[in-house]
Amino acid sequence: MDKDFKSIRPVTDASRPGVYIETYGCQMNVNDSEVILSLLEDEGYALCDSMEKASLAIINTCAIRDNAEQRIWGRLEVFRQLRKKHRLTVCIVGCMAERLKEELLEHPAVDIVAGPDSYRALPGLIKKLSSAEGGKQIDVMLSNEETYADISPVRLDKNGVSAYISIMRGCNNVCSYCVVPYTRGSERSRDYRTILREAGELQANGYKEINLLGQNVDSYLWTEDRRVDFAALLRMTAEAYPGMRIRFSTSHPKDISDEVIRTMASYDNICKHIHLPVQSGSSRMLELMRRKYDREWYLERIRKIREIMPDCAITTDIIAGFCTETAEDHLQTLSLMEEVRFDGAFMFQYSERPGTLAARRYKDDVPPETKTERLNEIIRLQNRISLENNMKEIGRRMVVLIEGTSKRNKDELFGRASNNKVCVFPSNGHKIGEYAEVEVLDCTSATLISKTI
Ligand code: 5AD
Ligand code: SF4
Repeated sequence: MDKDFKSIRPVTDASRPGVYIETYGCQMNVNDSEVILSLLEDEGYALCDSMEKASLAIINTCAIRDNAEQRIWGRLEVFRQLRKKHRLTVCIVGCMAERLKEELLEHPAVDIVAGPDSYRALPGLIKKLSSAEGGKQIDVMLSNEETYADISPVRLDKNGVSAYISIMRGCNNVCSYCVVPYTRGSERSRDYRTILREAGELQANGYKEINLLGQNVDSYLWTEDRRVDFAALLRMTAEAYPGMRIRFSTSHPKDISDEVIRTMASYDNICKHIHLPVQSGSSRMLELMRRKYDREWYLERIRKIREIMPDCAITTDIIAGFCTETAEDHLQTLSLMEEVRFDGAFMFQYSERPGTLAARRYKDDVPPETKTERLNEIIRLQNRISLENNMKEIGRRMVVLIEGTSKRNKDELFGRASNNKVCVFPSNGHKIGEYAEVEVLDCTSATLISKTI
């Protein structure tokens, strides 16, 4: 814990061996890659932007759906070809590494396999690989303690405005469809003092926004020197760094407390956006998914959020075509979407994951065409609702934190409002990292077209 924090900007230095990092999956994985880079910099490596120039490649993988894994197998073929011309150590880390273990090691393009709790072992594994003992290396031990609390992640983001802070690791829920408890192990919370210190370090380095990350942030709990739950952690962070914006994800409908909602409402610097994955609008499906809430409970939580924070944006995750899902269950999802009117959603077809409760107990019996049809219907509906919600923002003024230059037009900037909506506007002398007040002039389902005022 007393290790000094070091420079947050990636070092690029041709005199040091280069490490090339590719990250797939969620924000937690991005933050894990930042932890890995920090550990490797201590070993003398420097971040390198091309795999041709690197001597070490880290592929940080995701296992959440089969298509996530298929992409990685495809990438491994690219690395196999590259290794015919170029000496490159290839190291597979993350959730797919944890799930497949030795199976991945058998691939000719793979030298090292390391799971999410084994990143401190990486330098040792790399050394062993080239030592007399030699041979491919693997460490996929999960831990009940590892939180990488003392490691100062080396930020991989390019904007220097917004950064992730991991507040907990693992997951103790047993959603029947989900592989994460098996790949990331059991839940553990990080010492709140190291979280606050990391936030302070980011502020000192010019960052304006932090995103507190966990699989289920509402069950954050520190009990060693004092009791700090998630609401308390939010309050402490908001008070310690009033100049910084605070976001968090992901909340769980069964755990998000009134206290968390009230704490959000009490501080201007806690952004008014909650990502609250519902997964399905059918209570029967929620029961099979082992989500531990039903449709009514979810709708009650939404009512509570809206009662305390009428302007809070709410986004969600939805799975189409889970085991035994009927047309009626699907209609329940559509009707819940209409009732809640989410501001955005990540929408997926159910993908059976080996080893999960659903894979062991239920039949993946919704035909692929039906899954696709239902997913498309969900996407169409959400696009319509997102557009309608955004149209209501026209004429409103909001304060945005500027994150970058618009991809479409280099004279335009983009930033996020407190509710996480993306505003695009002519730069008008403003710079990345500044706050700007904008007025919304027009919109699409994904963007608010604005001008500065
Ligand atoms: N199939 C499809 N989607 C899944 N998710 C998790 N597991 C699966 C699966 N087996 C989705 C959930 C979760 C998000 C991160 O990914 O919606 O909230
Ligand atoms: Fe993240 Fe889940 Fe993918 Fe692991 S499996 S990288 S926790 S989304």
